[in-house]
Order: sequence, then C-alpha cells, then structure tokens
Amino acid sequence: MAANDTNSIRKLLTTCCEIETLAGEFYRALARLHKHEPDAAALWLKTASEEDNHKLQFDLCQRLSVMIVSGAVLDQEKADRALQLLRGAIAKLETSAPTVPSALRFAINMETMMMEFHMEHAIVFTSKDYSKMFRAMMDQDCGHIQTLKDFLSRYEAGC
Ligand SMILES: [Fe+2]
Ligand SMILES: [Fe+2]
Repeated sequence: MAANDTNSIRKLLTTCCEIETLAGEFYRALARLHKHEPDAAALWLKTASEEDNHKLQFDLCQRLSVMIVSGAVLDQEKADRALQLLRGAIAKLETSAPTVPSALRFAINMETMMMEFHMEHAIVFTSKDYSKMFRAMMDQDCGHIQTLKDFLSRYEAGC
C-alpha cells in the first residue's frame, strides 16, 4: 500500500534515505575494489557522491514533509525489498570482487530498477513548485545510468 498518512510517509522517506546511503556505500566499495583501475574507481566515487546528494535531498524532503508532501506513490514493501537487495549486493562484494564490466552491468540494472525510488516518481508533493524544486536538484545528478552505460561501451571498445 502506498503511504498517505504522516507516519507512513515519514517511514517511507526514512527508508528512501537508507536506500541512497547504501547505494553510496555500494559504489564506494566498488571504488576500493577497483582502485587499480583509476578511471573506473573515479566513476564509482563520482556515482557514490551523487547518491550522497540524493540522500541529502530525501533528508530535506523528510524534514519538510508535513508541509510539502501529501502522499506517496511508492510502496513501503517495495522500498524495504530494495534495501534488502542493496544490503545483499554490498555483502556479496565483501566475498567476491566483480570485474569492472560485470559491476557496470549490475549497477546499470540496479539503477534502472531503482528509478521508481527517485523522488519525482516516489513522492506526491502538495504543490507543483516543490516537485519542480526537487526535480531541478535531481536533474543535476540523475543522469548517472547513461554515464555508466557510456563507460561500459568505452570499456568494452577498449578505449
Ligand atoms: Fe540515488
Ligand atoms: Fe542511483
């Protein structure tokens, strides 16, 4: 069930913050694993800092939620499952290091699946102005699926 009361919305936004935090941790773990491939490590760190920004935006949204959020599209159960998936992915990195292309493919799939967790798809705002404001913040760093795809193409082409 999508949340539409204050407590459920707060809980959902907390879970969304945790998802972004774990996404950042996931990419930082890849940067450590691929530290001998500087271009890949730099891409993972840049992606991690974009996830950190998403986390800050959810923090802000949560703090203002009573005033600016009227409901949610995203189900709590779906958000909980995404959190578990990320925890599993991070735990897996501790036992086996993926190659750069396989990590890129996994990240592209994960990001595509997680699109619905981005704020503009997950949250209903009380005013169009708030959704515009958050969309403007997210647009600055939301293109990272394409960046990962471009990097994978260049990597596979050997350049
Ligand atoms: Fe994100
Ligand atoms: Fe992301």
